[in-house]
Amino acid sequence: MERRTIPGTELELSVVGLGCWAMGGLWWGDDVRDEDSAATIETALEQGCNWFDTAPLYGHGHADEVLTQTLGSRRHDVIIATKVGVRWDGSGQHANSDLTPAYIRSDTEASLTRLQLDQIPLLQVHWPCEQGTPLEQSMEELARLVEEEKVRYIGLCNYNPEAIALARTMAPIISLQTPYSILRREFEHGLQNACLQAEPSGDPLGVLIYEPLCRGLLTGKFRYEPEFPSSDLRARDDRFKGIRFLRANVLVRRLEAIAKKLGCPISALALAWVLRQKGITSVIAGAKRPEQMLENACADKLLKHPTLWPLMDRVVQAYRG
Ligand SMILES: NC(=O)c1ccc[n+]([C@@H]2O[C@H](COP(=O)([O-])OP(=O)(O)OC[C@H]3O[C@@H](n4cnc5c(N)ncnc54)[C@H](OP(=O)(O)O)[C@@H]3O)[C@@H](O)[C@H]2O)c1
Repeated sequence: MERRTIPGTELELSVVGLGCWAMGGLWWGDDVRDEDSAATIETALEQGCNWFDTAPLYGHGHADEVLTQTLGSRRHDVIIATKVGVRWDGSGQHANSDLTPAYIRSDTEASLTRLQLDQIPLLQVHWPCEQGTPLEQSMEELARLVEEEKVRYIGLCNYNPEAIALARTMAPIISLQTPYSILRREFEHGLQNACLQAEPSGDPLGVLIYEPLCRGLLTGKFRYEPEFPSSDLRARDDRFKGIRFLRANVLVRRLEAIAKKLGCPISALALAWVLRQKGITSVIAGAKRPEQMLENACADKLLKHPTLWPLMDRVVQAYRG
């Protein structure tokens, strides 16, 4: 699988990374089984995927445990990207950010223990502070963790262009994780340019895309408005309901026709489209089972297709969300 380097680092990421959120076993329905998650991780490795995105929040560390157990000693040969700075006590719907230096440190140390690593290859702030901790204090603590070699590189998730620019003056940030897909394109309004800016270190940011399949909508498997159990966060996601679902489905059926002609999965088309946009390093595709991972890995083969892209661009442009 093609690999792309995060600018200014030696992190070479496969263009498709495996997202481990669902493997935590919470918020993604009742069909998550550890055996399937382990088999999916094995398939990812076989397909040339060399990096995994996880977080303490994903099943209160359960995704980390499944990943660590499945990889065994191979965890040192791949890139594990995890996150920091969110507390969730398990009650209520909402987790809260805690970016105090003390919590950044204790959360990171807990991740090092769960992942059985001496150094986290990429530690990403899960989302911006909601509690009033000055950005400078959080960034200083992250920079200290890099100096102490507990963390190799630091990245951000879900920050806006202004906060990204400020954070980059305070700590050696190398990447941004943000949502982007054919159906969700706010990345193109400001964020993309912010990531392409090459200051102050002289390098643009690596861009790691989450939700590239719009939580499964862009796989084509939902022909009709789906019903999810209340344990699945998509039961409360308006994109799967009413007119929004119907509009998206028109686009997805167009993608289906293209995929049929090419003999490739719809999900691969959707992922490859993201990967062809300016500044993107890699997509993080969530997968619960090996078949899904196999389909998603096919994105790599489409990137340099000689005739596909002008047609895809027309189909995507015709979509009005
Ligand atoms: N930094 C952040 O704040 C943040 C936020 C969200 C996500 N993320 C990361 O990004 C990753 C990906 O995002 P996401 O999981 O929200 O969304 P996604 O990748 O767009 O969708 C993943 C889901 O789609 C379904 N799916 C995937 N491939 C499929 C295929 N080939 N055929 C049929 N169904 C398929 C699976 O669920 P079903 O089988 O249940 O349909 C899977 O769990 C996460 O795992 C996580 O690592 C980070």
